Amino acid sequence: MLAMNYRGPYRVRAQHKSDPVIEHPGDAIVRVTRTCICGSDLHLYHGMVPDTRVGHTFGHEFVGVVEDVGPGVRNLRVGDRVLVPFNLFCGSCFYCDRELYGNCHNTNPEATAVGGIYGYSHTAGGYDGGQAEYVRVPMADVGPMIIPDDIDDDTAVLLTDIMPTGYQAAEMGDIEEGDTVVVFGAGPVGIIAAKSAWLMGAGRVIVVDEVDYRLEFVKRFAQCEVVNFREVNDMALHIKKMTDWMGADVCIDAVGADASGSIMQTVTGRLMKTQAGSSLVLHWCINSVRKGGNVSIVGVYGPTFNAVPIGNALNKGLTLRMNQASVKRHLPHLIEHIRAGHIDPKQLITHRIPLEDVADAYHIFSSKLDGCIKTVLVPPRANEVRAVSASALH
Ligand SMILES: NC(=O)c1ccc[n+]([C@@H]2O[C@H](COP(=O)([O-])OP(=O)(O)OC[C@H]3O[C@@H](n4cnc5c(N)ncnc54)[C@H](O)[C@@H]3O)[C@@H](O)[C@H]2O)c1
Ligand SMILES: [Zn+2]
Ligand SMILES: [Zn+2]
Repeated sequence: MLAMNYRGPYRVRAQHKSDPVIEHPGDAIVRVTRTCICGSDLHLYHGMVPDTRVGHTFGHEFVGVVEDVGPGVRNLRVGDRVLVPFNLFCGSCFYCDRELYGNCHNTNPEATAVGGIYGYSHTAGGYDGGQAEYVRVPMADVGPMIIPDDIDDDTAVLLTDIMPTGYQAAEMGDIEEGDTVVVFGAGPVGIIAAKSAWLMGAGRVIVVDEVDYRLEFVKRFAQCEVVNFREVNDMALHIKKMTDWMGADVCIDAVGADASGSIMQTVTGRLMKTQAGSSLVLHWCINSVRKGGNVSIVGVYGPTFNAVPIGNALNKGLTLRMNQASVKRHLPHLIEHIRAGHIDPKQLITHRIPLEDVADAYHIFSSKLDGCIKTVLVPPRANEVRAVSASALH
């Protein structure tokens, strides 16, 4: 099959590799019809994530059609259209019982922090991802969801990650009626977080980025105020000026390790990697939120040391909440929000690129070229209609 193939930092290509096969009775094989590139993939692409191996196939946002199932699979049938949450999870461990699917204890036994994630390096379990024609989906009875008929593939693929993540970012901010919410990052996750903040009762939403076309988009999509941080000297001071010197009630980090805007953070974090990426947005969140405020972090950081102003967080009595999104927990209410017309995530899709051109697609998204917000990759066999034999429908 054709699959995205990692060759080293800033180098990816589409290449042939063996088709995945059923390795365990609980596996399914899914033929991918839509897959996206995520801001999280950029951390891999930029060489920020430890143990990203040459030959690995990225892609944790994908939907497709079930092509084959192992003998133990009960809930899926060949031909089902499924969306697959980016987390791999067992459904029965301590964490899964508490719906903390991103922290599953069984899908990434080598790690103590994160559970398994498709296509996200051996740090996250070493599972090949969905930027491919086919993907192996372990524990197929647990993760995937059959896509309702009224939800198309483009909408469904945004439900595998960015929509639940943006929504959870707002949820973890514990927004109260009338709160001022500042979202750092106007990528897909920040855009959905800004939109979700209103659904949770925010009285004011401010989004910060440096890319003007993204700020223009979020201003329209989420009816919020915007700040270009390149035009601001001191971010915390600026937010305080905007909020009667109180600071924001809630700050959301939707940027993570690749934050730009500070030479010191860029050199130590992104270039020399003496810390797990640039911690600039953590500084901005902790310093811009009011005393007793909430900071919600969904931007991804590597596992090693970060120079974070934890003393300030303590003195201010902040609540810091952060996690990988528990995608499956959010699907029922997000589908209701989509049906009610509250959020139309498809509007974020700016690019539709054949999987064959995956190298160009990464370059365009990473360099923020051509007005890119969200890219959908379409594998060559996406539109194939497969004749399903009666015996396969067991
Ligand atoms: N926790 C989770 O479950 C989860 C899931 C998906 C994505 N993420 C993470 O969320 C973050 C955003 O993802 P995305 O897909 O929107 O990525 P993206 O790369 O498209 O967007 C990030 C945005 O941040 C902006 N930015 C850079 N430095 C900034 C700064 N100092 N202040 C404000 N904005 C700044 C960039 O210009 C860009 O528009 C990434 O770190 C990604 O890894 C986390
Ligand atoms: Zn993602
Ligand atoms: Zn589990």
